[in-house]
Amino acid sequence: MAGRNHLYVPGPTNLPERVMNAMHVQSVDHRSPIFPNLLKPLLADLKKVFKTETGSAFIFPATGTAGWEIAFTNTLSPGDKVLIYRFGQFGHLWANMAQRIGLDVTLVERPWGEGIPVDDLQQRLQADSGHDYKAVLATHNETSTGVTSDIAVVRKAMNAAGHPALLFVDGVSSVASIDFRMDEWGVDGIIAGSQKGFMLPAGLALVAFSEKALGKMDSAGFPRCFFDLRDQLNNNKDGYTPYTPSIPLLYGLRAAMDMLFEEGLDKVFARHQRLGAGTRAAVKAWGLEICAQPGFESNTVTAVVVPKDKDAREVIGTAFNKYNISLGGGLSEVAGKVFRIGHMGDMNEVSMLGAIAGVEMALLDNGYDIKAGSGVAAALDYYRKAL
Ligand SMILES: Cc1ncc(COP(=O)(O)O)c(C=O)c1O
Repeated sequence: MAGRNHLYVPGPTNLPERVMNAMHVQSVDHRSPIFPNLLKPLLADLKKVFKTETGSAFIFPATGTAGWEIAFTNTLSPGDKVLIYRFGQFGHLWANMAQRIGLDVTLVERPWGEGIPVDDLQQRLQADSGHDYKAVLATHNETSTGVTSDIAVVRKAMNAAGHPALLFVDGVSSVASIDFRMDEWGVDGIIAGSQKGFMLPAGLALVAFSEKALGKMDSAGFPRCFFDLRDQLNNNKDGYTPYTPSIPLLYGLRAAMDMLFEEGLDKVFARHQRLGAGTRAAVKAWGLEICAQPGFESNTVTAVVVPKDKDAREVIGTAFNKYNISLGGGLSEVAGKVFRIGHMGDMNEVSMLGAIAGVEMALLDNGYDIKAGSGVAAALDYYRKAL
Protein backbone atom coordinates (compact mmCIF):
# COMPACT_ATOMS: atom_id res chain seq x y z
CA MET A 1 0.00 0.00 0.00
CA ALA A 2 1.16 3.51 -0.70
CA GLY A 3 2.29 5.69 2.20
CA ARG A 4 3.61 4.38 5.46
CA ASN A 5 2.14 1.75 7.62
CA HIS A 6 1.18 3.47 10.85
CA LEU A 7 2.25 1.40 13.79
CA TYR A 8 -0.06 1.75 16.76
CA VAL A 9 0.57 -1.60 18.39
CA PRO A 10 1.79 -1.41 21.99
CA GLY A 11 5.24 -2.60 21.02
CA PRO A 12 7.27 -2.83 19.00
CA THR A 13 6.95 0.93 18.71
CA ASN A 14 7.99 3.30 15.93
CA LEU A 15 11.73 3.74 15.45
CA PRO A 16 12.81 7.40 15.41
CA GLU A 17 14.98 8.27 12.38
CA ARG A 18 17.78 9.19 14.76
CA VAL A 19 17.72 5.74 16.32
CA MET A 20 17.59 4.03 12.91
CA ASN A 21 20.50 6.09 11.66
CA ALA A 22 22.50 5.37 14.78
CA MET A 23 22.08 1.64 14.19
CA HIS A 24 23.14 1.79 10.54
CA VAL A 25 26.82 1.30 11.27
CA GLN A 26 29.68 -1.07 10.61
CA SER A 27 30.40 -3.61 13.34
CA VAL A 28 33.16 -2.84 15.78
CA ASP A 29 35.36 -5.11 17.86
CA HIS A 30 33.64 -5.62 21.17
CA ARG A 31 36.97 -6.65 22.71
CA SER A 32 38.72 -3.48 21.58
CA PRO A 33 40.00 -0.94 24.10
CA ILE A 34 37.36 1.58 22.98
CA PHE A 35 34.29 -0.64 23.49
CA PRO A 36 34.00 0.33 27.19
CA ASN A 37 33.47 3.93 26.03
CA LEU A 38 30.16 2.73 24.64
CA LEU A 39 29.05 0.22 27.26
CA LYS A 40 29.96 1.94 30.52
CA PRO A 41 27.92 5.11 29.89
CA LEU A 42 25.01 2.98 28.63
CA LEU A 43 24.88 1.08 31.91
CA ALA A 44 25.22 4.29 33.93
CA ASP A 45 22.47 6.01 31.94
CA LEU A 46 20.18 3.02 32.17
CA LYS A 47 20.33 3.46 35.94
CA LYS A 48 19.08 7.02 35.46
CA VAL A 49 16.11 5.75 33.45
CA PHE A 50 15.33 3.18 36.15
CA LYS A 51 15.97 5.86 38.79
CA THR A 52 18.42 3.87 40.82
CA GLU A 53 21.71 4.87 42.35
CA THR A 54 22.24 1.83 44.51
CA GLY A 55 21.11 -0.85 42.05
CA SER A 56 23.05 -2.30 39.11
CA ALA A 57 21.82 -2.23 35.52
CA PHE A 58 22.42 -4.95 32.94
CA ILE A 59 21.92 -5.30 29.19
CA PHE A 60 21.29 -8.77 27.79
CA PRO A 61 20.98 -9.65 24.11
CA ALA A 62 17.50 -11.03 24.72
CA THR A 63 13.91 -9.84 25.25
CA GLY A 64 11.69 -8.96 28.18
CA THR A 65 10.73 -12.60 28.70
CA ALA A 66 14.38 -13.36 29.39
CA GLY A 67 14.33 -10.60 32.00
CA TRP A 68 11.78 -12.59 34.01
CA GLU A 69 14.05 -15.64 33.90
CA ILE A 70 17.14 -13.60 34.80
CA ALA A 71 15.33 -12.34 37.91
CA PHE A 72 14.17 -15.80 38.99
CA THR A 73 17.32 -17.78 38.37
CA ASN A 74 19.73 -15.32 39.95
CA THR A 75 17.84 -14.78 43.19
CA LEU A 76 15.59 -17.77 43.94
CA SER A 77 15.74 -21.53 44.28
CA PRO A 78 13.47 -24.31 43.01
CA GLY A 79 10.45 -24.67 45.30
CA ASP A 80 10.59 -21.08 46.57
CA LYS A 81 7.18 -19.48 46.99
CA VAL A 82 6.27 -16.44 44.90
CA LEU A 83 3.07 -14.40 44.82
CA ILE A 84 1.49 -12.99 41.68
CA TYR A 85 -1.90 -11.63 40.62
CA ARG A 86 -3.20 -12.61 37.21
CA PHE A 87 -5.30 -9.98 35.49
CA GLY A 88 -3.83 -10.05 31.99
CA GLN A 89 -1.79 -12.04 29.54
CA PHE A 90 1.67 -10.88 30.61
CA GLY A 91 1.06 -11.60 34.27
CA HIS A 92 -0.25 -14.98 33.09
CA LEU A 93 2.92 -15.68 31.11
CA TRP A 94 5.15 -14.55 33.95
CA ALA A 95 3.35 -16.86 36.40
CA ASN A 96 3.50 -19.64 33.84
CA MET A 97 7.28 -19.27 33.56
CA ALA A 98 7.59 -19.32 37.33
CA GLN A 99 5.63 -22.58 37.46
CA ARG A 100 7.56 -24.13 34.59
CA ILE A 101 10.95 -23.49 36.12
CA GLY A 102 9.85 -24.99 39.44
CA LEU A 103 8.82 -22.15 41.71
CA ASP A 104 5.87 -22.64 44.05
CA VAL A 105 3.47 -20.05 42.65
CA THR A 106 0.52 -18.54 44.49
CA LEU A 107 -1.52 -17.29 41.56
CA VAL A 108 -4.43 -15.06 42.54
CA GLU A 109 -7.02 -14.52 39.83
CA ARG A 110 -8.47 -11.06 39.37
CA PRO A 111 -10.82 -9.80 36.67
CA TRP A 112 -8.97 -8.66 33.57
CA GLY A 113 -9.03 -4.87 33.64
CA GLU A 114 -8.16 -4.62 37.32
CA GLY A 115 -4.69 -4.02 38.70
CA ILE A 116 -2.80 -5.22 41.77
CA PRO A 117 -5.18 -5.31 44.78
CA VAL A 118 -2.90 -3.88 47.43
CA ASP A 119 -5.17 -4.58 50.41
CA ASP A 120 -5.30 -8.24 49.47
CA LEU A 121 -1.53 -8.23 48.96
CA GLN A 122 -0.95 -6.75 52.40
CA GLN A 123 -3.28 -9.30 54.03
CA ARG A 124 -1.59 -12.24 52.32
CA LEU A 125 1.86 -11.03 53.31
CA GLN A 126 0.74 -10.35 56.88
CA ALA A 127 -0.66 -13.89 57.06
CA ASP A 128 2.69 -15.27 55.88
CA SER A 129 4.31 -14.96 59.30
CA GLY A 130 7.01 -17.50 58.40
CA HIS A 131 8.03 -15.35 55.44
CA ASP A 132 7.66 -18.22 53.01
CA TYR A 133 7.06 -15.89 50.09
CA LYS A 134 10.44 -15.08 48.62
CA ALA A 135 9.22 -12.71 45.93
CA VAL A 136 6.22 -10.65 44.87
CA LEU A 137 5.83 -10.34 41.10
CA ALA A 138 4.19 -7.09 40.05
CA THR A 139 3.29 -6.10 36.51
CA HIS A 140 3.59 -2.32 36.42
CA ASN A 141 1.81 -1.97 33.10
CA GLU A 142 -0.28 -4.92 31.88
CA THR A 143 -0.06 -4.44 28.12
CA SER A 144 -2.90 -6.81 27.27
CA THR A 145 -5.55 -4.84 29.16
CA GLY A 146 -4.02 -1.35 29.34
CA VAL A 147 -3.78 -1.43 33.13
CA THR A 148 -1.19 0.39 35.23
CA SER A 149 -0.71 -0.55 38.88
CA ASP A 150 0.77 1.74 41.48
CA ILE A 151 4.11 0.23 42.48
CA ALA A 152 4.70 2.80 45.22
CA VAL A 153 1.54 1.52 46.89
CA VAL A 154 2.62 -2.09 46.40
CA ARG A 155 5.84 -1.28 48.25
CA LYS A 156 3.86 0.46 51.00
CA ALA A 157 1.71 -2.65 51.44
CA MET A 158 4.80 -4.86 51.65
CA ASN A 159 6.36 -2.56 54.24
CA ALA A 160 3.13 -2.35 56.21
CA ALA A 161 3.12 -6.15 56.35
CA GLY A 162 6.77 -6.07 57.41
CA HIS A 163 7.51 -8.67 54.77
CA PRO A 164 11.03 -9.16 53.41
CA ALA A 165 10.06 -10.71 50.03
CA LEU A 166 11.85 -9.37 47.00
CA LEU A 167 9.78 -7.08 44.80
CA PHE A 168 10.16 -7.82 41.10
CA VAL A 169 8.49 -5.48 38.65
CA ASP A 170 7.70 -6.08 34.99
CA GLY A 171 8.20 -2.66 33.46
CA VAL A 172 8.36 -3.82 29.85
CA SER A 173 5.60 -1.45 28.72
CA SER A 174 6.07 1.25 31.35
CA VAL A 175 9.75 2.09 31.77
CA ALA A 176 10.80 5.15 29.75
CA SER A 177 7.13 6.08 29.18
CA ILE A 178 5.50 6.04 32.63
CA ASP A 179 7.33 7.21 35.73
CA PHE A 180 9.24 4.42 37.41
CA ARG A 181 11.38 4.88 40.54
CA MET A 182 13.41 1.86 41.47
CA ASP A 183 15.11 3.15 44.62
CA GLU A 184 12.22 5.21 45.96
CA TRP A 185 9.77 2.33 45.53
CA GLY A 186 12.15 -0.28 46.91
CA VAL A 187 12.10 -2.39 43.77
CA ASP A 188 14.53 -5.33 43.82
CA GLY A 189 14.35 -6.27 40.17
CA ILE A 190 13.04 -4.25 37.23
CA ILE A 191 12.61 -5.86 33.84
CA ALA A 192 12.28 -3.86 30.65
CA GLY A 193 12.72 -4.51 26.96
CA SER A 194 14.08 -2.43 24.11
CA GLN A 195 11.01 -2.40 21.84
CA LYS A 196 8.61 -0.19 23.79
CA GLY A 197 9.47 3.09 25.54
CA PHE A 198 13.10 2.72 24.46
CA MET A 199 11.99 3.04 20.81
CA LEU A 200 14.28 0.27 19.56
CA PRO A 201 13.70 -3.05 17.85
CA ALA A 202 13.24 -6.01 20.20
CA GLY A 203 16.50 -7.68 21.17
CA LEU A 204 17.66 -6.18 24.43
CA ALA A 205 16.52 -7.20 27.89
CA LEU A 206 17.18 -4.13 30.03
CA VAL A 207 17.16 -4.97 33.71
CA ALA A 208 18.39 -3.72 37.06
CA PHE A 209 18.71 -5.36 40.45
CA SER A 210 18.98 -3.98 43.96
CA GLU A 211 21.88 -4.79 46.27
CA LYS A 212 19.49 -7.00 48.22
CA ALA A 213 18.64 -9.02 45.10
CA LEU A 214 22.28 -9.25 44.01
CA GLY A 215 23.10 -10.50 47.49
CA LYS A 216 21.12 -13.67 46.64
CA MET A 217 23.20 -14.57 43.58
CA ASP A 218 25.48 -17.06 45.27
CA SER A 219 22.79 -18.81 47.32
CA ALA A 220 20.22 -18.96 44.47
CA GLY A 221 19.72 -22.62 43.64
CA PHE A 222 18.71 -22.39 40.00
CA PRO A 223 21.24 -23.48 37.42
CA ARG A 224 22.01 -20.63 35.02
CA CYS A 225 24.71 -19.86 32.53
CA PHE A 226 23.80 -17.40 29.77
CA PHE A 227 21.69 -15.48 32.28
CA ASP A 228 24.21 -15.54 35.13
CA LEU A 229 24.51 -12.01 36.48
CA ARG A 230 27.89 -12.84 37.97
CA ASP A 231 29.37 -13.23 34.47
CA GLN A 232 27.87 -9.87 33.52
CA LEU A 233 29.24 -8.20 36.64
CA ASN A 234 32.71 -9.65 36.08
CA ASN A 235 32.82 -8.31 32.54
CA ASN A 236 30.76 -5.13 32.91
CA LYS A 237 33.09 -3.74 35.57
CA ASP A 238 35.72 -3.28 32.85
CA GLY A 239 33.18 -2.21 30.23
CA TYR A 240 32.85 -5.56 28.46
CA THR A 241 30.22 -8.27 28.06
CA PRO A 242 30.49 -12.04 28.65
CA TYR A 243 29.50 -12.76 25.04
CA THR A 244 29.08 -10.92 21.75
CA PRO A 245 26.75 -7.95 22.19
CA SER A 246 24.38 -6.63 19.54
CA ILE A 247 26.44 -3.60 18.53
CA PRO A 248 23.75 -1.86 16.41
CA LEU A 249 21.23 -2.17 19.23
CA LEU A 250 23.74 -0.67 21.64
CA TYR A 251 24.29 2.31 19.32
CA GLY A 252 20.52 2.57 19.01
CA LEU A 253 20.16 2.51 22.78
CA ARG A 254 22.70 5.33 23.02
CA ALA A 255 20.63 7.46 20.62
CA ALA A 256 17.34 6.53 22.29
CA MET A 257 18.53 7.44 25.78
CA ASP A 258 20.03 10.68 24.43
CA MET A 259 16.58 11.51 23.04
CA LEU A 260 14.87 10.65 26.34
CA PHE A 261 17.28 12.81 28.34
CA GLU A 262 17.13 15.71 25.86
CA GLU A 263 13.33 15.78 26.10
CA GLY A 264 13.60 15.19 29.85
CA LEU A 265 12.07 12.15 31.51
CA ASP A 266 9.35 14.19 33.20
CA LYS A 267 8.31 15.63 29.85
CA VAL A 268 8.35 12.16 28.32
CA PHE A 269 5.98 10.96 31.06
CA ALA A 270 3.75 14.03 30.67
CA ARG A 271 3.58 13.48 26.89
CA HIS A 272 2.50 9.87 27.41
CA GLN A 273 -0.10 11.03 29.93
CA ARG A 274 -1.52 13.45 27.35
CA LEU A 275 -1.48 10.87 24.56
CA GLY A 276 -3.31 8.40 26.77
CA ALA A 277 -5.86 10.91 28.02
CA GLY A 278 -6.64 12.11 24.48
CA THR A 279 -7.12 8.52 23.33
CA ARG A 280 -9.45 7.84 26.24
CA ALA A 281 -11.42 10.99 25.39
CA ALA A 282 -11.91 9.64 21.87
CA VAL A 283 -13.10 6.25 23.13
CA LYS A 284 -15.58 7.96 25.42
CA ALA A 285 -16.90 10.04 22.53
CA TRP A 286 -17.50 6.84 20.56
CA GLY A 287 -19.59 5.58 23.45
CA LEU A 288 -17.25 2.60 23.99
CA GLU A 289 -15.65 1.35 27.19
CA ILE A 290 -12.02 0.72 27.97
CA CYS A 291 -10.90 -2.51 29.59
CA ALA A 292 -9.02 -0.80 32.45
CA GLN A 293 -11.07 -0.15 35.55
CA PRO A 294 -11.11 3.44 36.85
CA GLY A 295 -7.82 4.38 38.47
CA PHE A 296 -5.84 1.79 36.50
CA GLU A 297 -5.85 3.50 33.07
CA SER A 298 -2.56 3.11 31.26
CA ASN A 299 -0.80 5.96 29.53
CA THR A 300 0.99 3.65 27.09
CA VAL A 301 -1.84 1.49 25.76
CA THR A 302 -5.62 1.62 25.69
CA ALA A 303 -7.62 -1.59 25.28
CA VAL A 304 -11.01 -0.71 23.82
CA VAL A 305 -13.86 -3.12 24.58
CA VAL A 306 -16.27 -3.76 21.71
CA PRO A 307 -20.00 -4.49 22.23
CA LYS A 308 -20.88 -8.17 22.83
CA ASP A 309 -22.29 -8.66 19.32
CA LYS A 310 -19.05 -7.47 17.67
CA ASP A 311 -15.65 -9.05 17.08
CA ALA A 312 -12.74 -6.66 17.63
CA ARG A 313 -10.66 -8.63 15.10
CA GLU A 314 -12.82 -7.20 12.31
CA VAL A 315 -11.91 -3.65 13.31
CA ILE A 316 -8.23 -4.57 13.41
CA GLY A 317 -8.50 -6.28 10.01
CA THR A 318 -10.22 -3.30 8.36
CA ALA A 319 -7.78 -0.88 9.96
CA PHE A 320 -4.84 -2.84 8.54
CA ASN A 321 -6.17 -3.87 5.14
CA LYS A 322 -8.00 -0.70 4.19
CA TYR A 323 -6.25 2.07 6.13
CA ASN A 324 -2.75 0.67 6.59
CA ILE A 325 -2.67 1.10 10.34
CA SER A 326 -1.66 -1.60 12.80
CA LEU A 327 -3.63 -1.98 16.02
CA GLY A 328 -3.03 -4.48 18.79
CA GLY A 329 -5.35 -7.46 19.08
CA GLY A 330 -6.95 -8.86 22.19
CA LEU A 331 -4.87 -11.63 23.74
CA SER A 332 -6.11 -14.86 25.25
CA GLU A 333 -9.18 -14.20 27.45
CA VAL A 334 -9.96 -10.93 25.73
CA ALA A 335 -9.34 -12.14 22.14
CA GLY A 336 -12.01 -10.65 19.90
CA LYS A 337 -13.33 -8.58 22.82
CA VAL A 338 -10.83 -5.72 22.69
CA PHE A 339 -8.55 -3.96 20.27
CA ARG A 340 -5.58 -2.04 21.59
CA ILE A 341 -4.26 1.35 20.62
CA GLY A 342 -0.62 1.84 21.55
CA HIS A 343 0.44 5.35 22.51
CA MET A 344 3.99 4.63 23.51
CA GLY A 345 7.43 5.71 22.38
CA ASP A 346 8.08 8.06 19.50
CA MET A 347 4.55 9.52 19.29
CA ASN A 348 2.97 12.92 19.51
CA GLU A 349 -0.54 14.38 19.50
CA VAL A 350 -0.84 14.39 15.72
CA SER A 351 0.32 10.78 15.45
CA MET A 352 -2.45 9.88 17.87
CA LEU A 353 -5.02 11.81 15.86
CA GLY A 354 -4.01 9.63 12.89
CA ALA A 355 -4.60 6.52 14.98
CA ILE A 356 -7.93 7.78 16.24
CA ALA A 357 -9.09 8.77 12.74
CA GLY A 358 -8.08 5.36 11.37
CA VAL A 359 -9.87 3.52 14.17
CA GLU A 360 -12.92 5.68 13.67
CA MET A 361 -13.11 4.81 9.97
CA ALA A 362 -12.66 1.11 10.73
CA LEU A 363 -15.41 1.27 13.37
CA LEU A 364 -17.80 2.98 10.95
CA ASP A 365 -17.00 0.43 8.23
CA ASN A 366 -17.89 -2.35 10.66
CA GLY A 367 -21.29 -0.92 11.48
CA TYR A 368 -20.54 0.68 14.85
CA ASP A 369 -23.07 3.27 15.83
CA ILE A 370 -20.70 6.20 16.22
CA LYS A 371 -20.68 9.69 14.81
CA ALA A 372 -17.98 10.29 12.18
CA GLY A 373 -15.39 12.66 13.60
CA SER A 374 -16.57 12.38 17.19
CA GLY A 375 -13.44 10.67 18.54
CA VAL A 376 -11.08 12.91 16.58
CA ALA A 377 -12.97 16.00 17.80
CA ALA A 378 -12.81 14.90 21.43
CA ALA A 379 -9.11 14.10 21.21
CA LEU A 380 -8.08 17.27 19.43
CA ASP A 381 -10.11 19.32 21.84
CA TYR A 382 -8.25 17.66 24.70
CA TYR A 383 -4.84 18.01 23.06
CA ARG A 384 -5.30 21.70 22.23
CA LYS A 385 -6.17 22.48 25.82
CA ALA A 386 -3.57 20.19 27.38
CA LEU A 387 -0.61 21.37 25.32
C1 LIG B 1 4.16 -6.26 30.10
C2 LIG B 1 4.97 -7.18 29.25
N1 LIG B 1 5.77 -8.07 29.85
C3 LIG B 1 6.54 -8.90 29.14
C4 LIG B 1 6.51 -8.91 27.77
C5 LIG B 1 7.35 -9.88 27.03
O1 LIG B 1 8.40 -9.20 26.45
P1 LIG B 1 9.15 -9.76 25.17
O2 LIG B 1 8.12 -9.97 24.11
O3 LIG B 1 10.14 -8.67 24.87
O4 LIG B 1 9.82 -11.02 25.56
C6 LIG B 1 5.70 -8.01 27.11
C7 LIG B 1 5.66 -7.97 25.64
O5 LIG B 1 4.86 -7.32 25.02
C8 LIG B 1 4.92 -7.12 27.86
O6 LIG B 1 4.12 -6.22 27.27
